[in-house]
Amino acid sequence: MKVLITGVAGFIGSHLVERVLKEGHEVYGLDIMLRGNKDNISELESIKDFHFFETSILDETSLEMLIKKCDIIFHLAAAVGVENVIGDILKVIDINVDGTKKVVSIAHKYQKKVIFTSTSEIYGKSKNVPFREDDDRVLGPTTIDRWVYSLTKALGEYMLIGYSREGLAMSIVRFFNAYGPRLDIEGSGRVISRFIVQALSGKQITVIGNGRQTRCFTYVDDVIDGLVKCATNSKAEGQIFNIGNPQEISIKDLANLIKNILGSKSEIVHIDSRELYGSGYEDISRRVPDISRSKELLDFVPKVGIEEGIKKTIEWFKKKNELYP
Ligand SMILES: NC(=O)c1ccc[n+]([C@@H]2O[C@H](COP(=O)([O-])OP(=O)(O)OC[C@H]3O[C@@H](n4cnc5c(N)ncnc54)[C@H](O)[C@@H]3O)[C@@H](O)[C@H]2O)c1
Repeated sequence: MKVLITGVAGFIGSHLVERVLKEGHEVYGLDIMLRGNKDNISELESIKDFHFFETSILDETSLEMLIKKCDIIFHLAAAVGVENVIGDILKVIDINVDGTKKVVSIAHKYQKKVIFTSTSEIYGKSKNVPFREDDDRVLGPTTIDRWVYSLTKALGEYMLIGYSREGLAMSIVRFFNAYGPRLDIEGSGRVISRFIVQALSGKQITVIGNGRQTRCFTYVDDVIDGLVKCATNSKAEGQIFNIGNPQEISIKDLANLIKNILGSKSEIVHIDSRELYGSGYEDISRRVPDISRSKELLDFVPKVGIEEGIKKTIEWFKKKNELYP
């Protein structure tokens, strides 16, 4: 099978391409390195079944050429993460809405299946945990930039649903805080990267607020497993799935876990979110997936617990530090 992965050089894309190649498929990947990193896919350059194109999903000509060639599209390219979108809402709308429209409409034109990667941010600040796929969404005001990410991903979902009514084969996955090797090392916005880098370098570990807010971190191997199951199981057709690990941990406990695993002397301090992100940010108190639908239809069961996953991630960060001191 020929597979197109948009955002292939990103954190999740780079793991997905390895898995799809391992399963014997030919992969076409595109990325503009907005956040992705050529190092993430450099080891694949010599593989004859992997073809990389440094091009944008906004470039219709190359997009059409690639979609035409392939049987299925994993659409991962996006301006990602609430913290990274702050201050740049027009770019987010361009990529996540206009870009997704191009991917989906061309896929529809050539009748190619699309797996769209959405997010737990869809649920916004709903207090109705655990979140089920059909739950209400609760968002803050448009004066707070962070909500644009949720909104653009929701528009993406609507596009998929709309085109599926016109015959497009598709599924939607909503990830919950994926982590693992190749998480951006600068830690721009991803709490696990930030804490690991701070703990490794002996700097203060900066917890936003009181740290009682919780997340359900999902190890990247489980994320890829969910994605692949979604693409290969006929029961996934037309459906939306939460792909996450329901194991809930507070951000304060996460900081302690990372500090203890590393035996770090870093002090854990509490800071106001405005120090990091300015006024365009608002935190969410709890975010937990209900994965009954994924379990029932896809047989999706996350296998890697938080401690094991953090240890594996730390190993990668340590190696990376040796390579780039
Ligand atoms: N990592 C998570 O925890 C998480 C959670 C929920 C949803 N998601 C979704 O999963 C997908 C992958 O996320 P990720 O964590 O790998 O993020 P990432 O930022 O590492 O990867 C996204 C990739 O898309 C690329 N990209 C951006 N704009 C592009 C464009 N116009 N054309 C081509 N490529 C472009 C970036 O350069 C980057 O390599 C995204 O759609 C994201 O919204 C991720």
